[in-house]
Amino acid sequence: MNETTISTGVPTHLRDSVLENEWHPACASREVTDQPVSVTILEERVAIFRNRKGVHALRDLCIHRGAMLSKGWVQNERLVCPYHGWQYDDGGQCVCIPAQGSDDRIPPRAKATKYHCQEKYGIVWVCLGEPRAPLPDFKEFEDPAYRPLVCGPYVVEAAGTRVIENFTDFAHLMYVHGGLLGHPDYAELPEFEVFKEEDRVYTGDVPIFQPVAHSGSDHREGTTYVYVKEIFRPLAGRLSKRDAATGQTLWIMLTVLPVSEKRCVVYMPVSRNYAHDVDDRQFMEFQDTVFEQDKWIIETQKPELLPLDLQTELNHKADRLSVAYRRWINGMGVRIGTT
Ligand code: FES
Ligand code: CO
Repeated sequence: MNETTISTGVPTHLRDSVLENEWHPACASREVTDQPVSVTILEERVAIFRNRKGVHALRDLCIHRGAMLSKGWVQNERLVCPYHGWQYDDGGQCVCIPAQGSDDRIPPRAKATKYHCQEKYGIVWVCLGEPRAPLPDFKEFEDPAYRPLVCGPYVVEAAGTRVIENFTDFAHLMYVHGGLLGHPDYAELPEFEVFKEEDRVYTGDVPIFQPVAHSGSDHREGTTYVYVKEIFRPLAGRLSKRDAATGQTLWIMLTVLPVSEKRCVVYMPVSRNYAHDVDDRQFMEFQDTVFEQDKWIIETQKPELLPLDLQTELNHKADRLSVAYRRWINGMGVRIGTT
């Protein structure tokens, strides 16, 4: 066990020295208004609140009698416990105990554990331990030539690793998403390369033909999209999907919050360099539909934890990125969500 994991409050059976020190997508920025929010990371409850300085994450547990701080409210830049009104500043220090006089001393132990917290790409990110790596780069989300939006949350009753592996997968596009992202008549994948670096695995260009969907069509009309997929953290990756003819490109970052070993929440910051005038809701509904198609498959896969041994399941050449992902997180020592 790693010394940086001792104080996180993560239950023993979920101890994972990699995931405890990762930035996790706790919630979307838009979800944290003037009310605090409760999220669960590796079965640890976390209270997230916003004040004038920004967003802050505290262990969702009042040291007085164990009430949930996230059920309280924000007042004078502080988080107020709903049970007896103790006030915590954004460093987690209790600075007011209403039931005692203002001259009475506040016990030094009256504080809540503070977690690393930052806001970027429309997401509030929390790290329970000490961040080992910065947030992945997603410059297209912040580039004015692109239009950003955040899709999700999608709750999935499955291991986060299974969600990431599904994201690495090309050969399901023609089946699970047939008609939307491909077609079974064009299921054969071209040869593609997979590259491995110390901190990521990624593909070269993978062109996929998507025929026009209309009845009576012979399916020869359509669009070729060039995909590049990249996994840059154990529970985060990104793809770009470029129309080969026009250059119009959609970027999707997939980030997974591990709630417990077999439950997760997915957030997807998305960015596009076209159709800026089209209502974002159309793009969100499309992504919702695509995710809904993946979800039931992921939730019914066995074994539920991703086998890293490469023997339990049968890999073939279309699974190159998935194999690279398994090897990479195996070498890293990711324990939760794997077997
Ligand atoms: Fe929080 Fe008493 S339990 S103030
Ligand atoms: Co899919």
